[in-house]
Amino acid sequence: MRLLVFGASGATGKEVLRLASAQVWSVHAFVRANADQHVAEFAERVHRGDLTDPAATTPALAGVDAVAVCLGISRRSRSPFAPLVSPADLTSRATAAIVAGMRAQRVRRIVYVSAFGAGDSWGEIPWWGRAFVAGSRVRFSIADHTRSEALLAASGLDWTALRPMMLDDRPATQPAREMRPGDSLLNKVPRAALARTILRVLADRGSYGRALPLSAD
Ligand SMILES: NC(=O)c1ccc[n+]([C@@H]2O[C@H](COP(=O)([O-])OP(=O)(O)OC[C@H]3O[C@@H](n4cnc5c(N)ncnc54)[C@H](OP(=O)(O)O)[C@@H]3O)[C@@H](O)[C@H]2O)c1
Repeated sequence: MRLLVFGASGATGKEVLRLASAQVWSVHAFVRANADQHVAEFAERVHRGDLTDPAATTPALAGVDAVAVCLGISRRSRSPFAPLVSPADLTSRATAAIVAGMRAQRVRRIVYVSAFGAGDSWGEIPWWGRAFVAGSRVRFSIADHTRSEALLAASGLDWTALRPMMLDDRPATQPAREMRPGDSLLNKVPRAALARTILRVLADRGSYGRALPLSAD
């Protein structure tokens, strides 16, 4: 099975590359032209280009069985208040190009890292969480993940969106789990657990066409 990872140079993408290459996957990575070389350590093949351009994404999707999208709108620092350094519509523009490429190459399976608060989960965030999102630059990510999820829902592909609330860099030996009623929204999901979840749901037909809210213990 061949997996193509978009955003393979990011914190979650690196975890997916590392983990997938240790399993039965043949892993390809799609990164920006200037991304550092370390992705080549785990990826059998590295594609470089503008991921919002279907002319760049379509060839990279040839012969691929499944796609993982781990892109994020970058800020100047990890502070939620830091100015954006990526376009505010990066993830949705990339998703549109990836969906077009997948259709052209007849690739059906895509797992997309979204965020809790996107789409219909916005209404499940209490007032203090909504105030935080609206007052910080996280609002750009939530708005754009909402656009991406709508594109996936209209795509006709076998898509799954994963919606963690907050991520951190703790090690993990287990995947994240689906959020349950009563779970604290302050529970952080380790990126290493998110990566395990991505690989687990890839083969889970029950997750097709669903946006899964994620939590961790
Ligand atoms: N942080 C949280 O607590 C949290 C909570 C819930 C959901 N999420 C979501 O989780 C996802 C992954 O987060 P993360 O922290 O693992 O991401 P990250 O480390 O910030 O990685 C972002 C990825 O997107 C790429 N990227 C950014 N701007 C780009 C551009 N203009 N063109 C091409 N590629 C670009 C980066 O490439 P370069 O390496 O080349 O910059 C990198 O591969 C994000 O979508 C985020 O919204 C995060």
